Amino acid sequence: MTAPCSDALVFFGATGDLAYKKIFPALQAMIKRGELSMPIIGMARAGWSLDKLRERAHDSLEHNGGVDADAFAKLSAQLRYVDGDYRDPATYESLKLLLGDVKRPLHYLAIPPSMFGAVVQGLANAGCVKNARVIVEKPFGRDLASAQALNRTLHKVFQESAVFRIDHYLGKEAVQNLLYFRFANAFLDPVWNRDHIDNVQITMAESFGVQSRGAFFDEVGTLRDVVQNHLLQVIALLAMDAPVGREPEAMRAEKLRLLRAMRPLDPSQVVRGQFKGYLGEAGVAADSQVETFAALCLYIDTWRWAGVPFYIRAGKHLPITATEVVIHLKCPPLAIFDEISLATSNYFRFRLSPEVVISVGARVKQAGEAMRGEPVELIARHQSRSEKLPYERLLRDAIHGDPSLFTSDDSVEAAWRVIDPIFAQASAIHEYLPGTWGPTAAMNIVSDEEGWHDPKPEEATPC
Ligand code: BG6
Repeated sequence: MTAPCSDALVFFGATGDLAYKKIFPALQAMIKRGELSMPIIGMARAGWSLDKLRERAHDSLEHNGGVDADAFAKLSAQLRYVDGDYRDPATYESLKLLLGDVKRPLHYLAIPPSMFGAVVQGLANAGCVKNARVIVEKPFGRDLASAQALNRTLHKVFQESAVFRIDHYLGKEAVQNLLYFRFANAFLDPVWNRDHIDNVQITMAESFGVQSRGAFFDEVGTLRDVVQNHLLQVIALLAMDAPVGREPEAMRAEKLRLLRAMRPLDPSQVVRGQFKGYLGEAGVAADSQVETFAALCLYIDTWRWAGVPFYIRAGKHLPITATEVVIHLKCPPLAIFDEISLATSNYFRFRLSPEVVISVGARVKQAGEAMRGEPVELIARHQSRSEKLPYERLLRDAIHGDPSLFTSDDSVEAAWRVIDPIFAQASAIHEYLPGTWGPTAAMNIVSDEEGWHDPKPEEATPC
């Protein structure tokens, strides 16, 4: 049975950075596809008018993908605005008036988690939660205890089935394809384990800094910003067993099992870095010890993965913007022809961003008499960009009540359980120069002599 669709979208944080960069472009794209004709109500406490919000939406689209005149005209017509303090009951009374005879609103909390409680309670007191759903943004809490507290706050008003915790990585085409590739190809399963896989590396590199988000970032840091959520979720999809059945719950159950099998991190296996110049960023504390880079080694305690290191690295101001997973396979037991090490010859590579790439590394013989080989890469998929924006896909799913790509209460808590030990015993911060691959201490995380695999600019070979 399909769930009923929401019939109004209310988004808190309408004047914020996320709305500017991701939400307005997604809304315009959905309208363009004819997938969104309901009222869209922006909420903020900025002293703005509806016209100012429309101008902001226009500006956001100009800078993030372009304005489509027809779709923007519809977006403007559908847009409403409530300006008010999130702690003031009058704000929710105004919202209630605007909702009119809306029966199933979708409330999207694109605001800091510290405001969730006030907003959820304000909505409930004003009678705006009947048949409603709620989307909450990441990071969901600061650690396990605060995530559990947030879950309790949400559950006072919403059932778990009405809560959609967003992790936009799960809406990326490349991440979807990774999942598809794994379970649509029978040849993978026999090698997808500790017998054949030597190590797994995932690098999320960004060539830019904290941009205008210094104050936000300084509250969070790389581990909370992208590791606890995006990267652990990607590893869960990479490493989980096949779901039993096609229901969204089956997928979520397997992912949860995998997250629960991740061994809590050992602080000695984590290197934290901070780029030189971070302390001068607007909104950043002068003596901040917050990391803008993290490298770590994670283990998954299952029969399939015991002993296989999963290396994770993420940071700002690195040499390139790219997210890539490389699954290194074990080398042949004996090198019969080549004299050189074959250690990195066989691999699967998943480029998750900005392009979508799936490829396999192999060796072939060079032409000529000598039995000498060279590495080649077989490209199974190469798309320069995804057709759909992740937020577009996720908002559409939430409107339709499909939880498949959202994180459940127990899986978000399981992910915090993995990361929590690092906060209890914060390690030293190592400075690194912008444009480098982070502090040299990060090199020691990878025990393999080949070191980290650095993502490179992708050559254009679309297929
Ligand atoms: C966000 C983080 O969740 O993901 C940002 O808060 C990061 O710091 C961003 O830059 C990366 O996502 P994408 O989709 O732009 O690669």
